[in-house]
Amino acid sequence: MDVTLTVNGTPHVLEIDDPRVSLLDALRQRLDLTGTKKGCDHGQCGACTVIVNGRRINSCLTLAVMHEGDEITTIEGIGTPGDLAPLQQAFIRHDGFQCGYCTPGQIMSATAMLEELRQGWPSQVTGDLGQPDLTDDEIRERMSGNLCRCSCYPNIVDAIREVAE
Ligand code: FES
Repeated sequence: MDVTLTVNGTPHVLEIDDPRVSLLDALRQRLDLTGTKKGCDHGQCGACTVIVNGRRINSCLTLAVMHEGDEITTIEGIGTPGDLAPLQQAFIRHDGFQCGYCTPGQIMSATAMLEELRQGWPSQVTGDLGQPDLTDDEIRERMSGNLCRCSCYPNIVDAIREVAE
């Protein structure tokens, strides 16, 4: 079965022999986009977060064949070593990582989260409608799907807050 995915603005036609191939494995193994990481491979860690049609998802939990025609953004589409995105720069300034394995997923999740804030999604802490105050609790709750074994959470929150302000 052929599946057309537009990844970081470039269309790719993938021949998928096994419909059980996850989007994560298709990105990493077929397109060599290894910035998206495999941590748990069952939806617990967020290392595999990518943005599909504007929404963040765990790419290990979805099948490549389900994404015909979808627009997918991976960490490779966010910034390059010579031209880092503001969130990537902020993570560096605030030491928002140690081993760095979770960082692509953190950056992708935070990127989508900031867009959710711009769209006025309700508070994840209080449930209030309208633009929520970007408290540390609000950031932590919105980023709760992304785990960091090195426990850099306070610095990650600082980096995200800086970019949001
Ligand atoms: Fe997908 Fe952990 S690898 S959530």
